[in-house]
Amino acid sequence: MEIIIQETKEAAADVAARIIAGLLRKKPDAVLGLATGSTPLPLYKRLIGMDLDWSGVTTFNLDEYIGLPREHPQSYHSFMWENLFHHINIRPENIHIPDGNAEDIPGFCGEYEKRIHNSGGIDLQVLGIGTDGHIGFNEPTSSLASRTRIKTLTQQTIADNARFFGSEEDVPRHVITMGIGTIMEARQNLLLAFGENKAQAFAEAVEGPITSVNPASILQMHPVAKVCLDEGAASRLQRADYYRWVYDNKPVWQTF
Ligand code: GLP
Repeated sequence: MEIIIQETKEAAADVAARIIAGLLRKKPDAVLGLATGSTPLPLYKRLIGMDLDWSGVTTFNLDEYIGLPREHPQSYHSFMWENLFHHINIRPENIHIPDGNAEDIPGFCGEYEKRIHNSGGIDLQVLGIGTDGHIGFNEPTSSLASRTRIKTLTQQTIADNARFFGSEEDVPRHVITMGIGTIMEARQNLLLAFGENKAQAFAEAVEGPITSVNPASILQMHPVAKVCLDEGAASRLQRADYYRWVYDNKPVWQTF
């Protein structure tokens, strides 16, 4: 895992944006996996400000709430259009976000997996991390081999996300999320973590054992996993000085 620690979340998001920009310039028809939540906001802001051509890019979002109307301000559809898609030249037909209102949700989930496969697979997946270690909405004890499916949120995630909805009662209990197995098939994973409230879950994911109790820990098994974080999220790492040295002294010939 490549661990990139920056002073601020804006600086960390800038590194992440340059990684994505590099991919899009090299591969204009890249397939990106995208995330929601507060974490990727500075990344999307930075990407919008770059001179990038999104016309050949395909995207797949990680997750969506079940039962929330698409137009609801807190749906991940609304989030993605407001914070990224409205501001770039992506083709609407190349955008994929799980449909939390599908009549046959298990059928939809199977179809979503097929679409990812038929697109050639995800080149780079953007990830955040929950305070409980979740990636996408794969809550603790999710199967490490799971595919896109329905999940039930933990009380901790409901409490964390209540800030977007006004109250815990308004947070949907059920979601569709890409599985951990799906995420692990992306050719590259790029995780962002900002703030001290992520420090414990993040340290356990990177320096603890691989366990479904901290789903992000599976990234230790991924051949190309990068992490961009700020000092707050890095504050519980045991080996932070080593990671800093590695990044500051990265040879120019090292591509990842
Ligand atoms: C959300 C999303 C995750 C996200 C995580 C952290 O609910 N489903 O994809 O990474 O929880 O959220 P935030 O970035 O707001 O802290």
